[in-house]
Amino acid sequence: METIISPSILAADFNILGEQIQEVEKSGAKYLHIDVMDGIFVPSISFGMPVITSVRKHTKLFFDVHLMIVEPIRYIEEFVKAGADMITFHLEAAEGHVEETLDKIHALGCKAGLSVKPATPVSALEPYVMKTDMILVMTVEPGFGGQKYIETSTEKIRAVRQLLERHGLKTDIEVDGGITVDNAGIVKEAGANVLVAGSTVFQGNIAERVQKLLQA
Ligand code: DX5
Ligand code: ZN
Repeated sequence: METIISPSILAADFNILGEQIQEVEKSGAKYLHIDVMDGIFVPSISFGMPVITSVRKHTKLFFDVHLMIVEPIRYIEEFVKAGADMITFHLEAAEGHVEETLDKIHALGCKAGLSVKPATPVSALEPYVMKTDMILVMTVEPGFGGQKYIETSTEKIRAVRQLLERHGLKTDIEVDGGITVDNAGIVKEAGANVLVAGSTVFQGNIAERVQKLLQA
C-alpha cells in the first residue's frame, strides 16, 4: 500500500499557517491532518470550522479532519461544508450512533474514518469495518501534540490489519501520535499506511521531514 503522510497543523505556527501549508503542499505529503478538539471529549480546545473554511480556499491538499468532540453527528454537515474530504470521529464519542454517523458522512459525499483511543479494544471496531474508509489507531492519548508513541500500539495496528484482512478489506489504517522518523518504519511494517505527524514535521524543515517519513 502507498504510504501517505498527513501533517497535523496542530503543531504549526498559526501566525504563518498559510505559508506552512504551502510548504506541506510542496513536500510530498498528500493529506493535511486537522485536529478539532472540544474541551469535553479531550481536555484541550483547538479550532473549528472558520479555520478550515479559510485554509480550504488556498490549498488542494486532502483535508483529513480528526474530530475529538462528543456526539460528532451534530456537526457533520458543517465540517463537510467547511471543506473536509474525510471526517474521522471517535467510536467512544458516538456510542449508539456510530453507524448513523458513518452513513451521514457518506450521504454528504465525504469519506468516513473511525478512531479508537489506546484503551479501546480492536474488537469494538468489528461491527463497523464494512462501512469505514479508514481506521485511525491513536498511538497516544488524544488531546495534545508532542507526546511519546505508546509502544503497545504496534501490536494493535497489526491486529487491526488482521481484522480487516479477515473481512477481505484493504482499508487504510492511520496512526496518530508520537510518530517520528525512528518509528515510522515500525508502524508501516505493522500495517499502517497513513501517518499523521505534527511535531516531527513542523519542528524542522517540513519537506525534509516529510521525505524522511516517506522513506522510513
Ligand atoms: C493528538 C492529535 C494529533 C497530534 C499529533 O490528540 O490527534 O494529531 O497533533 O501530534 P504529534 O505528531 O506531535 O504527536
Ligand atoms: Zn489527530
